[in-house]
Amino acid sequence: MADSRRDFFRKAGNLTLGAAAASIWASDSLQKVHAATERLGQASPEASALDEQFWYSVRGAFNLSPQFINFENGYFSPQPEAGIDEVCKNARAINEIPSFYMRRQLVDDTREMHQLLASFAGCSDEEILLTRNTTESLNIVIMGLKLQPGDEALWGTYEYGSMKVAFEQRAAREGIVNKVLDLPITSMDNDEIVAAYKKAITPRTKVILVSHIVYLTGQVLPVREICDMAHEQGVEVIVDGAHAFAHLADKIPDLHCDYYGASLHKWMLAPLGTGILYIKKENIDKVWPLFGDAGYASDSIHKFAHIGTYPAYLQLALAEAIRFNQTIGLERKEARLRYIKNYWVDRLIDVPNIVVHTPREAHRSCAISTVGIKGQDPADVTNALYDKYKIFTVPPGYPGAVRICPNIYTIPYELDMFVAAMKELAAT
Ligand SMILES: Cc1ncc(COP(=O)(O)O)c(C=O)c1O
Repeated sequence: MADSRRDFFRKAGNLTLGAAAASIWASDSLQKVHAATERLGQASPEASALDEQFWYSVRGAFNLSPQFINFENGYFSPQPEAGIDEVCKNARAINEIPSFYMRRQLVDDTREMHQLLASFAGCSDEEILLTRNTTESLNIVIMGLKLQPGDEALWGTYEYGSMKVAFEQRAAREGIVNKVLDLPITSMDNDEIVAAYKKAITPRTKVILVSHIVYLTGQVLPVREICDMAHEQGVEVIVDGAHAFAHLADKIPDLHCDYYGASLHKWMLAPLGTGILYIKKENIDKVWPLFGDAGYASDSIHKFAHIGTYPAYLQLALAEAIRFNQTIGLERKEARLRYIKNYWVDRLIDVPNIVVHTPREAHRSCAISTVGIKGQDPADVTNALYDKYKIFTVPPGYPGAVRICPNIYTIPYELDMFVAAMKELAAT
């Protein structure tokens, strides 16, 4: 919130810190991005993806460390300067009026953030909740589903650990049964993947957990097709959208899922410690709250929000992240992220000893892809990339693979450095 505006609201006795009170353009850099989008005019997302001048202006909105090239945006991403400024300003403003803010203003501001996020995600604000991350969102669902002993949950070995252990805990406590698919998904086409899930469904199957983007490889799974198939069999679907939200342009209802969780600090470039939970309205009543609650009706999404006192200033800065993403445009963002990935993959794919594990088709991958060098341990490749070339990556635990997660601020020069480094390492 701009200082002059804050003073105005103070004088007016209105302490709202939320989006309505924030200045339209919180920073010069965001203004420049906005001006750059105007220059793009009607250019298609694919044409815009090639406009380096535009993406330089996007890069200018970030304060990036010159110490290394960051290709590990999968854990969490930097916020643009305008976003981190908003966090700091709101933290200070709340610190001046601490309990007063929490008691008198928080509810209104949170409602406003819900409305903004719901509209960004394409759903009703009665179906979404602000959380701290995907782990919290999906634990609320997995731990709260009303399952009986013997009921089956179906998920793949490539699901994220926090969700697997939540289902395993339910098996240990209550005797639900986990049916775990061990599919070679990188070498299967989407129809084969959907068919494999269908084949694994039994009369006891109640729920499927599936990632929209697999964290190990970046592979995009056909979640909508899996949801449609599962619904025909009377099975509900939880989608782990940790890597997909604000990375792919899909709105949550496009996926036809019953439950969805994502971390906003990953591809949405929002404050660290922000997440989203979506539950289709008619399903809310079917899920027990994780934290005891008596304040809301059993069909209210707010019954899941009873987490105690938390740093509200993080969520308040979501308005800024939404504005940043909307200024760029999600279709444009998705096209650029895919272009960046293709840029390095195309230059490495035929190099001797180099293996790219992730499917290359446009609908099966976007920003994230994996690469390895035959005969070399991925941890050694990761270390060599950092120690010799100052390129930061991670071995995600997929055999032979180093995961490459660039971002919208990545420029071709950095990709060229990476390609040259990999060629050198593959030749040793
Ligand atoms: C697929 C997937 N799900 C969930 C998570 C957990 O995210 P968070 O730690 O933000 O809850 C991750 C983290 O990388 C992930 O890759």
